[in-house]
Amino acid sequence: MLTSLSELPQRKIQGPKLAVLTAYDYPTARMLDEAGVDLLLVGDSLGMVVLGLPDTTGVTMDMMVHHTTAVCRGVSRAPVIADLPYASYATPEIAVANARRLMECGAACVKLEGGVSMIPQVRAIIAAGIPFVGHIGMLPQSVREEGGYKKKGKTAESIDHLIADALALDEAGAAAIVLESIVPEVAAKITGLIKASTIGIGAGTETDGQVLVTPDLLGSFPWFRPPFAKARADVAGETLRAVREYMAEVQS
Ligand code: KIV
Ligand code: NA
Repeated sequence: MLTSLSELPQRKIQGPKLAVLTAYDYPTARMLDEAGVDLLLVGDSLGMVVLGLPDTTGVTMDMMVHHTTAVCRGVSRAPVIADLPYASYATPEIAVANARRLMECGAACVKLEGGVSMIPQVRAIIAAGIPFVGHIGMLPQSVREEGGYKKKGKTAESIDHLIADALALDEAGAAAIVLESIVPEVAAKITGLIKASTIGIGAGTETDGQVLVTPDLLGSFPWFRPPFAKARADVAGETLRAVREYMAEVQS
């Protein structure tokens, strides 16, 4: 299991693959850390799976600070990735200021969405001494402009863009890059082209690691689960059962 981001290049070559999960609160973070999860991500998926928002565009820096602080309190070993939320990295200066705020919560690195178009922000963050993780492919913060969640890498033009994005982030010094909803063959190709570790979600199995939204894994957000996410527990069902059992006992 990973104890520092500096181990990523060696893991990319020697394996095993990185197992990454999201966390938004102290108890979950503490359990995932104890289980040996390589990296914890305080994702802005927070907006949907914890705060009940329709998408990630309503997530603010204050929300990310609140939850990143709680997660970091629960972790004693795993490096924590904190998401820069929607509209928090409009310029390199704003990006660095907000990245610093997340690092002050105890994060090991920050992540933002985008490739070539975000290189000024990425370079500024890395120049400020803040380790960085990229995120390309389907970008949830752009869901409104895009008019939905769409798989990437289906056309020659889209493949070229993805590869240019990955190479630009790699060249800028990203420690890892999340590949979200990318055609598996394209994710595999990118993985072989760059020094950074690739962490896939809905991008096939040929990446350096996988990330999953923890409530999807645990079955604790039963109202929506992406098709690639296999629930390995039924926390929602267990919750309903325990609550009904308690109610029946109290009422009788
Ligand atoms: O916010 C999040 O949970 C993420 C993962 C889906 C990669 O960014
Ligand atoms: Na995210």
